[in-house]
Amino acid sequence: MNWIALGAGLVTILALGLLLYWQLIIAEGTYLGPRIVVLLYDWSARVYERIKQYDSGDEQWFLGIPLARALEWVPAPLVLDVATGTGRLPRALLRQPAFEGRVIAIDLSRKMLNQATHETAQFSDRITYIWQDAQELPFDDGTFDAVTCLEALEFTPNPRKVLHELVRVLRPGGVLLVTNRIGRDARLLPARAFPRDTFGDVLAALPLESIKVRPWQVEYDLAWAVKTGSPRGGGIRPLPEFLRCPVCAHRMEWQDRSLKCAACEHTYSAGEDGVLELARPQR
Ligand SMILES: C[S@@+](CC[C@H](N)C(=O)[O-])C[C@H]1O[C@@H](n2cnc3c(N)ncnc32)[C@H](O)[C@@H]1O
Repeated sequence: MNWIALGAGLVTILALGLLLYWQLIIAEGTYLGPRIVVLLYDWSARVYERIKQYDSGDEQWFLGIPLARALEWVPAPLVLDVATGTGRLPRALLRQPAFEGRVIAIDLSRKMLNQATHETAQFSDRITYIWQDAQELPFDDGTFDAVTCLEALEFTPNPRKVLHELVRVLRPGGVLLVTNRIGRDARLLPARAFPRDTFGDVLAALPLESIKVRPWQVEYDLAWAVKTGSPRGGGIRPLPEFLRCPVCAHRMEWQDRSLKCAACEHTYSAGEDGVLELARPQR
């Protein structure tokens, strides 16, 4: 009898261990909600770059150079990087001499953003970091010349909704760059990673053309696409011209280092590291 109880106890502990490994290590908290995802990234922010070991040459070859080329026709492009982490995409892009634009970079982990400000300090006058959820982008439709989202869709509660948001804020003729999780672990991420052979169709259901889904890293495919419609406008503009209050979607104005909403009167400050804290409305 004791042996049976011991065996049952061991099986339960093993099952719990596997469950935790799946939820916290493979899924990185995605089924437990954004708070847990953010908590895990806040905890790992300082060691993230050491874990990932990005190769600067690869980053420029696969991301920075092709994106700068795709934007060559815009004199000073405005780029949005969603779930920027430690600023990997801004870094790869701003290192390109051909790129003379600016990057707005958002993330929901405040500590990842703080780390990003250190990793990209040399480009600080050309990046605006914003603490904000990717699920509701507080920007006007058709704002950005390029929108990027790398290694992040699967950690959001509703990747289709995020994709829709990415395309909404992209302007006609603008470039979308987005990843889809593949490989063994992707099978353990139902309703988060798109089955590999369907990702092109998911993108094709959006107002996108010239869609190319390519193998990229062991765990990710990289998709390039262009938003349909005739290209118009584009380029750098002051933030209040296209940023909306996350609480009421009204326009905002600068007051010292804060943005104030004229309608609901919430203010949003920049932290000491310069990150604009839209996720922390104040009255
Ligand atoms: C694997 S990292 C990728 C970071 C960066 N794009 C890169 O390629 O290095 C995933 C990032 O997504 C962010 N993230 C997860 N859920 C988010 C959400 N709902 N809104 C904004 N960022 C989110 C995390 O905080 C983390 O920085």
